[in-house]
Formats: sequence, C-alpha cells, structure tokens
Amino acid sequence: MTHWQRVATTAVLVPLLASVCATAEAQARKKPAASAASAASAATAPAGAAVYAERFKTVCAACHGADGRSDMAGVPVLAGQPSLYVITQLFLFREGRRNNEAMIAMAKPMKDDDLRGFSDYIGTLPAVPAPPPATPPDASRMSKGQALAQQHKCVYCHGADLAGGQQVPLIGGQKEDYVRAALHGFKSGDRPAYTRAMTEALSQVPVEDLDVLAYYVANFTGK
Ligand code: HEC
Ligand code: HEC
Repeated sequence: MTHWQRVATTAVLVPLLASVCATAEAQARKKPAASAASAASAATAPAGAAVYAERFKTVCAACHGADGRSDMAGVPVLAGQPSLYVITQLFLFREGRRNNEAMIAMAKPMKDDDLRGFSDYIGTLPAVPAPPPATPPDASRMSKGQALAQQHKCVYCHGADLAGGQQVPLIGGQKEDYVRAALHGFKSGDRPAYTRAMTEALSQVPVEDLDVLAYYVANFTGK
C-alpha cells in the first residue's frame, strides 16, 4: 500500500465505513443472545459469505463473469479489485451518484450489509489476467503510454504493478473500452468519483492523451 492509499483510506472512508459498520453492529445487537457470542459469530460468518458468493453467481456473473472477468463490452473486470474500492463504487451507484442504469438498478435495493457482503466477496476473487492478445500490443503506443503514466504519477496511487489497494482500483489489465470511458468520464466530470484524486490526477493530462493511456493500462501485464 502506498502512503497515499493509507492516508486517503483513513481520511475518506472512515465516515462511510463507520456508518456501514454501525448498522451491522446494531443488527448484531438485536439478535437473540441464546448461544455464546463466539459460537454465533463462528456460525454466521461463513454462512454470510456463502450467501454473497451464491448471489454473485446468480445475479452479477451474468454480466461480470463467474470468475469476475467477462468479455461483455463496457463491463469492467471485478476480479482483483480491492474490497474497499468496490464498496465505495456500490455506494456511489446506490446513491445514484455514479451514473449507470444497469448498476444503479442492481445497487438501489442493497442494504449496507449487502454492500459489504458483495464487496467482501469480490475482494476474495483472485485477479484474472487478460487473455493473450491476437497480435502483440503496439510497442510505440505502449512506450508513449508508459511515459505518460510515469509523468502523471499513475503509479503513485495505483502502484507500480497497477494493482491498486484499499480504495484505489486495480487498473492493469482492465478492459480498454472501459478504461477509456472511465478516463474521459473523470476528465469531463461525467463520472463523479468518491474523492477528487482522479480529477486532480488528470487535470494536467490533455484529452488527446487519454486513449493512449487507456491502451497502455489495458495492455499492461507487469512486464
Ligand atoms: C446487466 C449487466 C450487469 C449486472 C447484472 C451487474 N453489473 Fe456491475 N457493472 C455493469 C456495467 C456495465 C458496469 C460499468 C458501469 C459504468 O460504466 O459506469 C458495472 C460496474 C460495476 C462495478 C464498478 C467496477 C469498477 O471498476 O468501478 C461494480 C463494483 C459492480 N459492477 C458490481 C456488481 C455486482 C456486485 C453485481 C451483482 C449484484 C453486478 N455488478 C451486476 C454491468 C452489470
Ligand atoms: C492521487 C491518487 C491517484 C492518481 C495519481 C491516479 N489515480 Fe486513478 N484512481 C484513484 C482513485 C482513488 C480511484 C477511484 C475513483 C473514485 O474515487 O471513485 C481511481 C480510479 C481510476 C480508474 C477507474 C477504474 C475503474 O475500475 O473504474 C482509472 C481507469 C484510473 N484511476 C486510471 C488512472 C491513470 C491512468 C492515472 C494516471 C494518469 C491515475 N489513475 C492516477 C487514485 C489515483
């Protein structure tokens, strides 16, 4: 985790997570105290996780793929995303602050426990690398993209491996159409983010450089 990830997590996520956790605690307190607390939590925790694994398979996998990577256009890879990033995005969809019809419909009925259950489950999905491209990526676009990523300090927050951490998403190997739309969305203000990190990160990047950055990020394999 980079220093920035650690600072931003404490400063930004505490209010959101505090409210989510407070709700869970309040619900836990309402449960009958018939059995010993330790036995109860040992029994409920795995069952809760299994419920969200099952709901992911029956509901989310249709678009996102059972392993968290589908080929469907415009649908992002979820495999490898840190759970804290996922919970912030589900929260933004639920509140209608991040605009996507399909995902708003998914998130609207979710309770705080659902946000946590889904994000905890997604956080356990191992990263799934992109299938090898039919033709090797264009070397000159890759080196231009890499230079831009260094110049604009993408690795400062997303990590040298572009795998993210805490509330910063994995972007290495994310789908190109989706990354392109995300970058243009942050730049134009069409995609409101949870923090100002991306608006500021892109403030010095000319619009015409966004596509080559997306190309680099999507084709990034860590090598
Ligand atoms: C009908 C197709 C569809 C279904 C079903 C669906 N999603 Fe999505 N999901 C999308 C699309 C499309 C996006 C990208 C939205 C955008 O471009 O802003 C997305 C984005 C997301 C994101 C944000 C990812 C990122 O990198 O920012 C999360 C998290 C997510 N979905 C979780 C879920 C969960 C959990 C479920 C099941 C409860 C689910 N989705 C079901 C289509 C779907
Ligand atoms: C100051 C930290 C920071 C810097 C620098 C930064 N990012 Fe981000 N990035 C974030 C955070 C935090 C998010 C999550 C957005 C939110 O809050 O909703 C994000 C989101 C993204 C997303 C959306 C991913 C998804 O799954 O939807 C992409 C793509 C992205 N960043 C690419 C880049 C690129 C390319 C650069 C360099 C030009 C960059 N970032 C620089 C912190 C940063």
